[in-house]
Amino acid sequence: ETKVWKIDPMRIDAHQNDINRAAELLKQQEVVAFPTETVYGLGADATSEQAVRRIFEAKGRPSDNPLIVHVAQPEQVHQLVTEIPEMAKKLMEAFMPGPLTLVMDSSGAAAPNVTAGLSTVAVRIPDHPVALALLEACEVPLAAPSANRSGRPSPTTADHVYQDLNGRIAGLIDGGATGVGLESTVVDCTSEIPIILRPGGITRQQMEEAVGTTMMDPALASHQEAPKSPGMKYTHYAPEAPLWLIDGDDQFFKDQLYTIEQDGSRVGIIASNELAEQLPGQRVLACGSRANLKEIAVHLYSALREFKKADVDVILCEAFPEEDYGEAIMNRLQKAAVKKINQF
Ligand code: TXA
Ligand code: MG
Repeated sequence: ETKVWKIDPMRIDAHQNDINRAAELLKQQEVVAFPTETVYGLGADATSEQAVRRIFEAKGRPSDNPLIVHVAQPEQVHQLVTEIPEMAKKLMEAFMPGPLTLVMDSSGAAAPNVTAGLSTVAVRIPDHPVALALLEACEVPLAAPSANRSGRPSPTTADHVYQDLNGRIAGLIDGGATGVGLESTVVDCTSEIPIILRPGGITRQQMEEAVGTTMMDPALASHQEAPKSPGMKYTHYAPEAPLWLIDGDDQFFKDQLYTIEQDGSRVGIIASNELAEQLPGQRVLACGSRANLKEIAVHLYSALREFKKADVDVILCEAFPEEDYGEAIMNRLQKAAVKKINQF
């Protein structure tokens, strides 16, 4: 049984006892899920190989995928790395605490399985009162991937974590829904120019205002094309039913929908408010206005979890412009999709 604590992030002081109990479990090498401003994380003492092993076991995560180390204070970042490059200092000043993760050369303070044997370590300071209180209370840095079963959409509520991990983890702090809804931006700071390894809660544009030029990891481009064969097994952000990404105007979307429905398929739809309004009588989840991609990001993972295999045969999802938060949204949708249909 997983112990669950409900904590109001606005009244942290009233819950210090619960925070302390969760910290106690972490000190005993157990794993505890907790809210951050991006998604829920599954935390363990980052200096303990045994504790970190439990994260991989609980999630069913491949051990060659390194974890992010979370700390409360900038001074703790210093202890985890050999040195902080100039660009990283600027990024820390601008965005920490916040949804930004920096990859730097590891000092070796983190257990070897945190970094999956790499010479670098990924570090971030979450901007969430519960996460910060927990980090302060347990006094060690916490390795924490997203608190979902490997391959599932990341959890943005404690309920999502419970669905995936109940009985597999010692504790879960329920601090309500997360704010950003997508994971942190991961930036490699070991070269001349910051390289964005994973688009996320801090946009490329925001970063460039702080440090000038940045680069997208060329490997990201290879994910641009979702495989064309449906049924191909996907292991990222996957909803229960196969997801098809529809890239075109509203009429194109409706044409695809009606074609698919003709053979009797039950279709679930994830769309902007603007498109949803044109689809009365459909099973549609509206995620927010097209004019506000940030809002779409907040609701995306919930939507991916919402449609159940028993109710729909296929999920059609609207594609969004790859700018601003759309860069992160489309990165996740490309990975979640088994098929992409382009109008142009
Ligand atoms: O918002 C977030 O970042 C959430 C919350 C819980 O903090 N965490 C999260 O962790 O998304 P996870 O494990 O799901 O994703 C970590 C990402 C992976 O893509 C991993 O490959 C990358 O960070 N990463 C970790 N360490 C790295 C390293 N040393 N070099 C390159 N990439 C690294
Ligand atoms: Mg993850």
